[in-house]
Amino acid sequence: MEIRYDIPNKQQSPNIPIGFSGGLYDKGTKLVRFGYRDYDHTEEFSYDKQGNILKQTITNNTQKTIRQGAYDIDDRTKIFDNTNYIYNTDGYLSSKTDAQETTTYTYGTLGELREVILPNNDKITYLYNSNNQRTAKLINNQMVALSLMEELYAIGLLIAETTTTPSVKFTAKLYNCKKIKGAKMNIKSTVTLSNGVKMPKFGFGVWQINDGDEVANSVREALRAGYVLIDTAAIYGNEKGVGEGLQDFRRDEFFLTTKVWNEEQGYDKTLRACEESLKRLDVDFVDLYLVHWPVKGKFADTWRAMERLYEEGFVRTIGVSNFTQFHINEIYKNAHIPPMVNQIEISPFITQVPLREFCVQEGIAVEAYSPLGRAKILKTPQLIRIGEKYSKSPAQVILRWHLQNDIIPIPKSSHAERIRENADIFDFELSADELKTISALNQNKHAIKQTFFQFDEQGSVIL
Ligand SMILES: NC(=O)c1ccc[n+]([C@@H]2O[C@H](COP(=O)([O-])OP(=O)(O)OC[C@H]3O[C@@H](n4cnc5c(N)ncnc54)[C@H](OP(=O)(O)O)[C@@H]3O)[C@@H](O)[C@H]2O)c1
Repeated sequence: MEIRYDIPNKQQSPNIPIGFSGGLYDKGTKLVRFGYRDYDHTEEFSYDKQGNILKQTITNNTQKTIRQGAYDIDDRTKIFDNTNYIYNTDGYLSSKTDAQETTTYTYGTLGELREVILPNNDKITYLYNSNNQRTAKLINNQMVALSLMEELYAIGLLIAETTTTPSVKFTAKLYNCKKIKGAKMNIKSTVTLSNGVKMPKFGFGVWQINDGDEVANSVREALRAGYVLIDTAAIYGNEKGVGEGLQDFRRDEFFLTTKVWNEEQGYDKTLRACEESLKRLDVDFVDLYLVHWPVKGKFADTWRAMERLYEEGFVRTIGVSNFTQFHINEIYKNAHIPPMVNQIEISPFITQVPLREFCVQEGIAVEAYSPLGRAKILKTPQLIRIGEKYSKSPAQVILRWHLQNDIIPIPKSSHAERIRENADIFDFELSADELKTISALNQNKHAIKQTFFQFDEQGSVIL
């Protein structure tokens, strides 16, 4: 799979041939790509349906600048978000600057290179710092700073889990990788997806909140409490109400996800389903569009439609939900654009370590649905005990566990006080031991009985 804008060091956009300059765009209708590439740098633009530039990415050997936001084609001055990534001569990220923060990365000479052998015998080499955090990964003999992708930040837990698997071995030693100054996580913190779009690390789910005022008020409440990411789906039947709630906010104040439902899968139907969702939500584009479930015999065609929707600017990122490693590998067989997100059920009772590990290696962000185990696990004594230490509720402890494992949780509540409570998790930090204790609760147990659909042996939904 290519399309990895975030691999530093001389990586050029694979989409634009050298010497290509200019491009067609038809204002008001389509053609969303336009590029410029010479031997020194690449510029790539993506446009919305109106022909306004949504994003400009400028890449050269040592620097990548991403300018995001709408600005008029004739007036390039209205860019409102600008992130600069600077790489050192070895190709490591050395600093990152955007509107809110500057992060400086310095690499030293102590530390550990560890080889992880996965259950399928693939080997992968990571660089660890003295805090046992993975900071870089060996890709094609190049160290790629993981901090660039903002993945694997507090990885201590994941290591603890994988070391318990007999097939995982660590071998030793070499470099050091130190993050000198890192931004503290807050409710607006983001992870950079494989196409460069920033997705909030924390969100709000609206399944089973009634359409109309109830969902509109919940969405308003969540956004006022600081949430940015809102997760709905066509099948939830509440997109219209979500759209009403969003009316009070600027488009850049929320990151909106919706999903194509099973019956709407296939190429043409997915294109139409997206159009219908956009209409109900009353937006020109969604930030993330997901294939809700892998439907047997359909999901590959669905993915082609997802790619087209992405290319045409109706959706800023595309991903999947309830997909296993098998399904993702199936998509790779024909995809031009890999999934950027996989939304799966994760809670301390169903930690999904192997699938998470796979997604991380593939550069796919992991998002957790039913992150609170649908409130069925909140009386677990270990969670209560850990919560008491920090004066936090079990729900807050669980959500913090997600964040510290680089999982994007999207808890749902239709109660204002719980919406706020769930967001109040940025003023404490679980220790490595506490993270381990919580992970050890795993029983691979779904919070919802998997009896909605019929599944084949690969976990694909049979319609
Ligand atoms: N892709 C998929 O297939 C899929 C499947 C399921 C869910 N999702 C998404 O994931 C989101 C979250 O999952 P979910 O709704 O299944 O479950 P969840 O967020 O794990 O749990 C929601 C339940 O927990 C309760 N709750 C929330 N905060 C609480 C707190 N602080 N204290 C006590 N109880 C609390 C809620 O009750 P109240 O509402 O009464 O507060 C509700 O009953 C969904 O809304 C949806 O957007 C996606």
